[in-house]
Amino acid sequence: MTKIAPSILSADFTKLGSEVAECISGGAEYIHFDVMDGQFVPNISIGIPVLKSLRKHSGAFLDVHLMIDRPLRYAADFCAAGADLVTFHVEADTADNIKKAIATVKEKGKKAGLSVKPKTPASALLPFIDDLDLVLVMTVEPGFGGQSFMADMLPKISEIKNYISERGLDCELEVDGGIAPDTAKLVKAAGANVLVAGSAVFGAADRAAAIENIRNA
Ligand code: DX5
Ligand code: ZN
Repeated sequence: MTKIAPSILSADFTKLGSEVAECISGGAEYIHFDVMDGQFVPNISIGIPVLKSLRKHSGAFLDVHLMIDRPLRYAADFCAAGADLVTFHVEADTADNIKKAIATVKEKGKKAGLSVKPKTPASALLPFIDDLDLVLVMTVEPGFGGQSFMADMLPKISEIKNYISERGLDCELEVDGGIAPDTAKLVKAAGANVLVAGSAVFGAADRAAAIENIRNA
């Protein structure tokens, strides 16, 4: 089943609670929460205090995408703040520390994901894949909403889908960046089952319709 994860990076932060509630009542399965540190990516977004507020306000599944350098430093804190799933970037630290970060999230009883930037090959995930609940393929350079989908990422999505199927893993495959009904169709065909969408959902007057249009593309 396809899951839709609206990215609140494109929401109106002055009314975040109602923005999220509208997505959930509109059928979204996950709420995608983008954390940027101005180091790993050239932008700064939101972090632990906002996640805590949202957790208090909402029972939604909170899908936290950490675009931060050396994420092991904050893995436990994001779990404690209310994340249901914490996704790191494989490029953000040594393999040893990424393994420790994944283990930390699992010890806290949360789901762990690992993401690859567009220039990172699928094979970079192999040392970790058996321990992951989700792989996130970036289909734009991380850092900003509203960018164009990179169609050259489609073979990478298929390759990772094959890794997951061959190994019989219970691992979701998420895509993030430039997802709208036209590109949703392509990523679903390539094997993605969790679709992040920021501007396509929050830029639409009717969020529920936008979510359904992406799901049914
Ligand atoms: C980009 C973020 C995305 C972003 C997607 O670095 O990780 O989650 O919000 O935005 P759209 O859907 O507008 O490309
Ligand atoms: Zn994201």
